[in-house]
Amino acid sequence: MNRGELLYEGKAKKLFRTEDPDVVRVVYKDDATAFDGKKKGHLPGKGEMNNRISAFFFRYLAEKGVDNHFVRRLSPTEQLVRRVRILPLEVVVRNRAAGSLAKRLGLEEGTSLPRPVVEFYYKNDELGDPLVNEDHIAALQLASPDQLEEMKHIALRVNGLLKELMEERGVILVDFKLEFGLDREGRLLLADEISPDTCRFWDARTEEKLDKDRFRRDLGGVVEAYREIWRRLGGEIRD
Ligand code: TMP
Repeated sequence: MNRGELLYEGKAKKLFRTEDPDVVRVVYKDDATAFDGKKKGHLPGKGEMNNRISAFFFRYLAEKGVDNHFVRRLSPTEQLVRRVRILPLEVVVRNRAAGSLAKRLGLEEGTSLPRPVVEFYYKNDELGDPLVNEDHIAALQLASPDQLEEMKHIALRVNGLLKELMEERGVILVDFKLEFGLDREGRLLLADEISPDTCRFWDARTEEKLDKDRFRRDLGGVVEAYREIWRRLGGEIRD
């Protein structure tokens, strides 16, 4: 594949142009950050696991009728995706209290929520990605009310599908974060990544953490945990 120009470099991924203006090449890196970039780490093998796991989830969701940006996986650490303009929102869905929700509401980590909780965060590094409601989103014109409804609907559908899929593999889907973008025609598309960097996965039997909390909380065995998720998804490592 022709090495196109670097379009964007984020904390965990790089985006490159391809010959097709509507398609970009994503390279998953081995770097990790947490707490607004205050904590940094290099985790050899993470990029490959997140590329494989993300590709798996996006393909699975597309099969179930959830349109998304994924085109195909190119190599262990690269995939092609449709080019979109990412909306500056993080859409979080929670099945159990953990992380910032447990802290904000004084709930014990692991408490089951009677129904999924959907939250929006404004992606803004200077502000530290604050929690926003629908009125804040309208005031800042971050998304239209229709787009907001659609994102919420898709996020809950993704939750239903991934929760069931992971349950069958002995994994609790505690919570996860999604991002959406607009394509050239202004169509809303699920984008970014879905991986142990952006989800909380707990082993159903032991409640052992199999996600980025191992890095955030210095628990060790980060990439090993990501490999375990890939193994539970039936993944093999060949090419
Ligand atoms: P939180 O409990 O820290 O708000 O995180 C909720 C979920 O969102 C969790 O699965 C981790 C994910 N997440 C990201 O993917 N990126 C982020 O920057 C943050 C803060 C959380």
